[in-house]
Amino acid sequence: MIILAIETSCDETAIAILKDKKILSNIISSQIKIHAKWGGVVPSLAKREHIKNLPIVLKKSLREAKILNSKFQIPKIDLIAVTIGPGLEPALWTGINFAQELAKKWKKPIIAINHMEGHVVASLLNSKFKIQNSKFVKFPALALLVSGGHTELVFMKKLLDYKIIGSTLDDAAGEAFDKVAKMLGLPYPGGPIVAKLAEEKITAPFTLPRPMINSKNYDFSFSGLKTAVLYKLKELPAESRKLKAEFCYEFQQAVIDVLVSKTIRAAKEYKIKTIILGGGVAANEELRKQLGEAVKKNVPRCALLVPRHEFTGDNAAMIALVAYFRKNQFTNPENLKANGNLKLE
Ligand code: KG4
Ligand code: ZN
Repeated sequence: MIILAIETSCDETAIAILKDKKILSNIISSQIKIHAKWGGVVPSLAKREHIKNLPIVLKKSLREAKILNSKFQIPKIDLIAVTIGPGLEPALWTGINFAQELAKKWKKPIIAINHMEGHVVASLLNSKFKIQNSKFVKFPALALLVSGGHTELVFMKKLLDYKIIGSTLDDAAGEAFDKVAKMLGLPYPGGPIVAKLAEEKITAPFTLPRPMINSKNYDFSFSGLKTAVLYKLKELPAESRKLKAEFCYEFQQAVIDVLVSKTIRAAKEYKIKTIILGGGVAANEELRKQLGEAVKKNVPRCALLVPRHEFTGDNAAMIALVAYFRKNQFTNPENLKANGNLKLE
């Protein structure tokens, strides 16, 4: 079984190939440099770049996976997987249209994939880029999904069965990192640079709020935290590197405190056996470390699955993986439709 997966939900053009249980190629062409100039992702530019990059990324991916059939030049693909949402619709459509063309040309079936489900399963890829046996995950499981567009706590009774028990009421965690970075005059995307400055661990002479940390539900809100940074910056303009580092350290800790506290509380309430971390913000070392410590201390029998760094941000390997688990759920290529707000449930 060979799966070709296409991911274009935001600003990475990505194509991966999965054979049996192993990722043979995982090519990502990032548009960060183009969007950085605008301080965020510009949908029309993302669309233009995906259209330009898709054929190049495809060629690279096929070549690296060594699956080109020399006689016919039709690769030995069994099915095509494509992200249909959530994400930026103009960007999603480029991947869908490309998948439709390939399906027609190669006469292969298509599977429509939810991007967030990709982030859920990403931590099942091990260091050899192979899928762990799914028995590896003990249920019930709880996924903490933290990306640029989403912050969700997802309860899973079994594999591929999702119930969102909490989500953000306003900004997503990654979005808050990006916006705070912008306020501090730091480049897009903000997450990696805020994390880098926070590494200096310079304690700020103030504290920022931990929004909704004590609320009874599992929802999040990061917009107030971002506004608190804005007001603090009026009092204490962070012009020096040291001041920027103080803001980053305190802001990052505020986000981590809320994420970790709610995850642990949900893990206890739902008697969770495996916690799964996923999404771009899962690249944050301090979040990985502090969540790991909190799990050991508070729910020691619970396992924690964290994606390898190459599978935290957007990639098509995770999309191929979902298709592997859903290999018989074909969609009529003509019915494919981008859905910017697609939900997991
Ligand atoms: O999952 P992802 O690549 O794209 C979406 O599906 O949204 O997540 C991107 C988000 C961005 O907001 C970026 O700033 C954030 O992930 N991010 C980080 C780190 N690396 C990326 N946030 C915090 N710490 C990081 N190290
Ligand atoms: Zn994502």
